[in-house]
Amino acid sequence: MDVSVLGQFPTRRMRRLRSSPVLRRMVAETILLPDHLIWPLFVRPGRKERRPVASMPGVCQLSVDEAVRETARAVEAGVPAVLLFGIPERKDEKASGAWSRNGIVQQAIRALKREYPNLWVITDVCLCEYMSHGHCGVVEHRRNTTRIANDPTLALLARTAVSHAEAGADMVAPSDMMDGRVAAIRAALDRAGFEDLPILSYAAKYASAFYGPFREAAESAPRFGDRRSYQMDPANAREAIREVALDIAEGADLVMVKPALAYLDILHQVKTTFGLPTAAYAVSAEYSMIKAAAAQGWIDERAVTLEALLAMRRAGADLIITYAAPDVARWLHQR
Ligand code: PBG
Repeated sequence: MDVSVLGQFPTRRMRRLRSSPVLRRMVAETILLPDHLIWPLFVRPGRKERRPVASMPGVCQLSVDEAVRETARAVEAGVPAVLLFGIPERKDEKASGAWSRNGIVQQAIRALKREYPNLWVITDVCLCEYMSHGHCGVVEHRRNTTRIANDPTLALLARTAVSHAEAGADMVAPSDMMDGRVAAIRAALDRAGFEDLPILSYAAKYASAFYGPFREAAESAPRFGDRRSYQMDPANAREAIREVALDIAEGADLVMVKPALAYLDILHQVKTTFGLPTAAYAVSAEYSMIKAAAAQGWIDERAVTLEALLAMRRAGADLIITYAAPDVARWLHQR
């Protein structure tokens, strides 16, 4: 065959920069470091308790003492931050477990900060795990209709955030998607003397089927209905920009897009539009799908995980919340 079918050989040869591993590393546009990772933890009452989450291999609900032990693995690997979720002793209609001084998350914060003063402890601020009905807000019955009431929820969220701060949290992350929650939380934190405590808002959070395994892990599936009256419709992108703009105006210091992999377009737009530190949440099913396929021997867990996280960084994520954080941090050191 005539190789010079074009009449000439290429003058631009993109492959020159791909010829050796050293050069490929030198010209890489995106880098993933352990510093970029945040590890979610599920804490529950009890002692020496480790309850595996069946749909998330490697993830357990942990009692506080076990959570402290398990965190050593992350800290040693260089993961700088954890994100706490709580499974309370009891659920009720006002989410008392979320804001009580001795709530499960409050206990975990104190224990973790005592053991690891330099660990950055972030808390998920939401009510669904603590509500008997499993919704992220107060449920109101009016004229034969049931709704998740926005404004009565704000005070409970603010109270939850302040109680996390009082227990020693370094940052709060509201994930409920009520309107006005960032402003309510900011005002309450300021009033309580926590004006320096940053807010990472779940600014563009979609009503996603990718949260399925999480609801087993956090025991937070809604008892009736779904979350579509407060979380975003997966069809919408422009709306995400308006959501993020509002949260920033209300005082968010960092913003999050969730889920991550199926929403990289949103992540990219949020980062380029606002330029704020931006987090991506690689949610439970993103983790479970990789684990399940890897267990079958269909994919290479490590390669697929690293590629997915790198794609989030490329799309604009400064920080990535991932259940695989300790493994990923170790893999990054091995390269
Ligand atoms: C609480 C909350 C959820 C997740 C994080 N915070 C569940 C939900 O909104 O139903 C999902 C995390 C995941 O799937 O990994 N509202």
